[in-house]
Amino acid sequence: MDISISGAALPTRGAVAVGVAKDGKLTPAAASLNEATGGAIRQVLKSSRFTGAAGQSIEILAPANTKLDRILLLGLGDAASMTMTDLEALGGRTVGAWSGSGVKSGKIVIDDPDLAASSKLSKGAVQAHIAIGARLASYRFDKYHTRLKDEDKPSLGELQVGTRAAAAAREALDELDKVADGVFLTRDLVSEPANILYPQTMSERCQELSKLGIKVEILGEAQMKKLGMGSLLGVGQGSDRESRLVVMQYSGAKKKDAQPVAFVGKGVTFDTGGISIKPAAGMEDMKWDMGGAGVVTGLMAALAGRGANVNAIGVIGLVENMPDGKAQRPGDVVTSMSGQTIEVLNTDAEGRLVLADALWYTQDRFKPQFMVNLATLTGAIIVALGSEHAGLFSNNDELADRLLAAGKAVEEKLWRFPLHKNYDKDLKSPIADMKNIGGGRGAGSIIAAQFLQRFVNDVPWAHLDIAGVTWSSAAKPTVPKGGTGFGVRLLDELVRRHYEG
Ligand code: BES
Ligand code: MN
Ligand code: ZN
Repeated sequence: MDISISGAALPTRGAVAVGVAKDGKLTPAAASLNEATGGAIRQVLKSSRFTGAAGQSIEILAPANTKLDRILLLGLGDAASMTMTDLEALGGRTVGAWSGSGVKSGKIVIDDPDLAASSKLSKGAVQAHIAIGARLASYRFDKYHTRLKDEDKPSLGELQVGTRAAAAAREALDELDKVADGVFLTRDLVSEPANILYPQTMSERCQELSKLGIKVEILGEAQMKKLGMGSLLGVGQGSDRESRLVVMQYSGAKKKDAQPVAFVGKGVTFDTGGISIKPAAGMEDMKWDMGGAGVVTGLMAALAGRGANVNAIGVIGLVENMPDGKAQRPGDVVTSMSGQTIEVLNTDAEGRLVLADALWYTQDRFKPQFMVNLATLTGAIIVALGSEHAGLFSNNDELADRLLAAGKAVEEKLWRFPLHKNYDKDLKSPIADMKNIGGGRGAGSIIAAQFLQRFVNDVPWAHLDIAGVTWSSAAKPTVPKGGTGFGVRLLDELVRRHYEG
């Protein structure tokens, strides 16, 4: 779908979307369409529950006295207090209404003077956010559909967002587009089935980021063995696919040797559970158990694409967790790169084993300002938070607060959980420095985080448990069903607010 910025004039053909503020207050564009149609919009306000409240929308088909196909009325609510994600939702709702409707081209003209006057966003940013919301909503993963009928393909080919500040809006959109490119990359990776995307092929996708100026290193099993990564390697040893560690470096800081920020991802390209095998029902979901690694990869693409003024490191541990004759057994003891030994009591608690070595390696080699890791780590976080918030665990209040605030701003919300030494006794092993699961049924997500904390060596660190937010079964205005890309915009916003320049 081609989404672009254009002038503010109302179109005379195709579809048009305009805003109505709360209590039925027409924006200038809506007022002029109301007039052109002999009062059709006022009539809708009288005869339906559409009042212009935030989140509402309603369509007028084949409006009289015009050559338009349809008019979409978008509720703005209190126009003066709209946030950037509210604006993005307008673009998303428009794509939702038109994408498969038969409409081929459309234009959004939101010209509320309250919005313009009060918006904390810079000139042009209002329309840029509407446009990026539309683009985020337009994502599809249909490369494996070879027999789609025309009526099942999107009809909408072209969408314009009109504004008098077109030049400024285009400039703002260019930058947002780079971040959306990163989100799309993450969604693509997460959507791929595990026979296509496995450690080697995912590392090849990362290698492609070198065209954005990112330095990409790929470590194989021999190199990881030399480094002593027995924890990560144990997870992959039951798979025919070789494990990989991918290190991505983006150097965008003005000061070349500025201390980097670091992002670390769990990349289990398929999680059968290993010998502690999972039940059959729903196991297909475990193709997206590389979601954390997918976010790190998309984030690196976003930062490099928009030329962020920061030095950033992305490290992802790629393994396939399979049961076979070579697989690791419950009770095995492995030695991690940190030197700490781990009794593997449950081979399905494998993400923490991968991260143990990836985190240790990252702090040891790069001495970063902070590390944020992302992982589809525990089912327990889904029980606690569902799909509205991801779990946040951190040893550093400043980093945690910054993450919480960035998440709110981009609608990728986090909820902080505690870490406390009293949970540690649950990780005691009679034979090794620790075991990889707790003893009882309680606090599964916290115990997993306590485990990770043993491998961060007191570097400011946060762990995002994204098991509940990586894949969505209910579409939101700017997030279609499937891979969400949750985390890319959040961490881009974190960097933008605090770590550039
Ligand atoms: N990848 C799973 C967690 C998961 C579950 C992600 C559902 C997304 C949806 C993880 O490797 C896992 O299996 N965790 C176990 C840990 C347990 C064995 C301590 C879990 O949550 O059951
Ligand atoms: Mn598992
Ligand atoms: Zn897993």
